[in-house]
Amino acid sequence: MSDETITQQVSERYARAVTSGEQMCCPTGYNFDDLRSFVPEEVLRVSYGCGTPAGLATVRPGETVLDIGSGGGIDCFEASRRVGQTGRVIGVDMTDEMLAMARRNAPIVMANLGYPAPNVEFRKGHAENLPVEDGGIDLIISNCVINLAPDKANCLSGALPVWEYLRGLVQAGFLGVHQMKYSPWSVIDGIHFVSLTLTGYKLPNAVEPNEVGYVTLVGPFSRAADELGQTYHRGKPEPVSARTAQLLKPPPFERLFLLSDQPVSHDHHVYRRGIPLEICSKTLDVLESGPYSRHFAVINRATEAVAGEAVSCEPGGSCC
Ligand SMILES: C[S@@+](CC[C@H](N)C(=O)[O-])C[C@H]1O[C@@H](n2cnc3c(N)ncnc32)[C@H](O)[C@@H]1O
Repeated sequence: MSDETITQQVSERYARAVTSGEQMCCPTGYNFDDLRSFVPEEVLRVSYGCGTPAGLATVRPGETVLDIGSGGGIDCFEASRRVGQTGRVIGVDMTDEMLAMARRNAPIVMANLGYPAPNVEFRKGHAENLPVEDGGIDLIISNCVINLAPDKANCLSGALPVWEYLRGLVQAGFLGVHQMKYSPWSVIDGIHFVSLTLTGYKLPNAVEPNEVGYVTLVGPFSRAADELGQTYHRGKPEPVSARTAQLLKPPPFERLFLLSDQPVSHDHHVYRRGIPLEICSKTLDVLESGPYSRHFAVINRATEAVAGEAVSCEPGGSCC
């Protein structure tokens, strides 16, 4: 079947679904009572996503969100509420009937949110050739759409194996791709269909220089590799680029790695519960950061005595 035929069939399918409001896809997990307070019922009725986009939980006021395959607009309207009047939301869909529904309801949602000017717009277009300028988007969401794209036609019914979907995200330049939610949906002909919510990051092209020069894998795995090609061995400081450091700084990585300007190795320290141990400032930096901090109480009295002994640790001394 040609790409054009697949695209046309998908579009016709969703055009019919606009009027039928039929049940499609998997349970999503929205709080419909909350959404009903500002989104019209006809939009909620054609909610055909497979989940609730995880990225929306992190979006900040003033940001610009792009929703690929926006359908009736449910996720755009939620994004519109979250980014506020100073933010912007662009929904893109290829099906006229879906666009008509979203556009018809946008003024109602804007009025319900009390916005004097609309912060949401819906554009006709294809996921493969988006009608948006480069570099202007802070967050991209897409709910149950990429799996419908024609170039995935070698898979059953246009669906994708999970590993291939992940590989596609990485090839598209997303880093730190990880699974947020996994819900089994149905087994058809022995094939397990699941609803999957993933998060990934794109770094800005120009990465600001930062003070991090080394990264140490804390565990629990003995080895890990990132999508920039770096491999980490537990407890071994690895020199990293500013770009890698920027990727590993925020959650969820910050729990797995120690970031430092020097190749910090503190494995020789043995900490006994309740017994103070003298350490130098480099080790202190490590223990006050990330996953270690909650396990230690730090007595930082510089030159004063600790546990009856004078503090004697000098840079390069035996305590470092
Ligand atoms: C399963 S529905 C999901 C709609 C919406 N995201 C939601 O959560 O309700 C898929 C939507 O994506 C649109 N779509 C599918 N393939 C597309 C493509 N290649 N480009 C643009 N839109 C597409 C369809 O028209 C339909 O509105």
